[in-house]
Amino acid sequence: MPKITIRPHPDLCPEGTSFDVASGDNLCRSLLAHGVEIEHACEMSKACTTCHVVLRSGFQSLEPAEEDEEDLLDRAWGLTPTSRLSCQVQVGSQDLEVELPRYTINHARENH
Ligand code: FES
Repeated sequence: MPKITIRPHPDLCPEGTSFDVASGDNLCRSLLAHGVEIEHACEMSKACTTCHVVLRSGFQSLEPAEEDEEDLLDRAWGLTPTSRLSCQVQVGSQDLEVELPRYTINHARENH
């Protein structure tokens, strides 16, 4: 069973956490199911980028992003080469280490 490790995030997960999931599970839903209240403003319909995560390990084990996900990611706050929209990620067979970006585009608009 792949293990998901979440790095600490000051609001969403101050201590960090980790949990096991099944291969094929949706990453965004898994986070929510384990108490990590990641934003998902478009209800996972690939239209908002608020579910953006950075894969600090395991990125290569995932199916590549489709072009429309890549296009949306270009608008995400804090984009990195291993960024994904968590609502579009099916966990593969390997463990993942996930960093939750400090802000989403919603925060950036409201507060910065
Ligand atoms: S929840 Fe909107 S793109 Fe993932």
